[in-house]
Amino acid sequence: MEFARYLVTPERWERLPPDWALLFGQGGPLAVEIGFGNGEFLAESAVEHSDWNWVGFETSLTCVAKAGRKLARAGAENVRLALVDGRFALRELFPDETVERVFVHFPCPWPKRSHAERRVMDEDFARTLASVLTPSGAFELTTDVLVYAQDAAEDLLAQGFRTSGPDELAAVGPGSRYEVKWRQQGRRIWRLRAERGPKGGTLRLAEGAMPHVQISKRVTPGAVLSLVGLKETWPSGAFVVKAAYLAPSGGSALLRAFATDRGFEQQYLIAVVPDGEGAMVKLDGAAVPFRTPAVKRSVAAVAAALEGQ
Ligand SMILES: C[S@@+](CC[C@H](N)C(=O)[O-])C[C@H]1O[C@@H](n2cnc3c(N)ncnc32)[C@H](O)[C@@H]1O
Repeated sequence: MEFARYLVTPERWERLPPDWALLFGQGGPLAVEIGFGNGEFLAESAVEHSDWNWVGFETSLTCVAKAGRKLARAGAENVRLALVDGRFALRELFPDETVERVFVHFPCPWPKRSHAERRVMDEDFARTLASVLTPSGAFELTTDVLVYAQDAAEDLLAQGFRTSGPDELAAVGPGSRYEVKWRQQGRRIWRLRAERGPKGGTLRLAEGAMPHVQISKRVTPGAVLSLVGLKETWPSGAFVVKAAYLAPSGGSALLRAFATDRGFEQQYLIAVVPDGEGAMVKLDGAAVPFRTPAVKRSVAAVAAALEGQ
């Protein structure tokens, strides 16, 4: 459970983006690592640069647990970990011009065209970097896939970055599990560095406020069950209600919903609870999503459908 002391859950925060200096209890330059794996680089860097604040994002809970153990063993205090897609997190959780360094080491290359949307590095990510990095900020990518680094350089150049590389990295790089693994297999390792040029602009989607909607009449079990399949799709997003669960008393209900905003997917629960003469439709605390447009739209659509029955 050592990782628990490093873990933050930004989807529960009421204000986005947060004040990181307040969260860390110390000011100092902010560095972000996306896809930190078992945390070797984070642990070493955080100890070496103890006056910096380090934030790591991962999509694997196993990695968060392993990295947390490593950080605890290293005695690192200046690190926070979050189980959030780093592409979304970098855009939504950092104000413009506040991040000094962003590191991505050995990202999954997803070589198939049909999987390309899963790559961390793309045009949108380069746009996010141009907006969250400070004027002196820089991005560093290490990979064994040369074409990945070359594509990344193109995306960064298009956002006005000054790039150097990708160059072959002969000396030891981040010292991470994947660096060791690929070197043992004799693969060549590539490094791309990019310094920010003009400040970019990016559109943020999430905000802290909880969407609650009061409806004027009591809700029947039949009305709740009829919401399964409720969905909407629009150019930048979609939501669908996949299942409905009634409390044994029949008074309240939960809906399992999925939402996607510009490719960022979330699943969560919408609660319908009796409230005075009517009912309240709100996000349930058991699986809180980021409050994105698709999430808010789903709560509003559920309330409108129940009100209209
Ligand atoms: C090939 S591993 C490299 C791990 C580590 N950086 C290393 O060098 O050993 C890629 C890591 O990125 C994580 N990952 C993939 N997509 C991600 C995303 N969108 N946000 C955060 N982490 C991600 C995976 O869970 C995995 O741990």
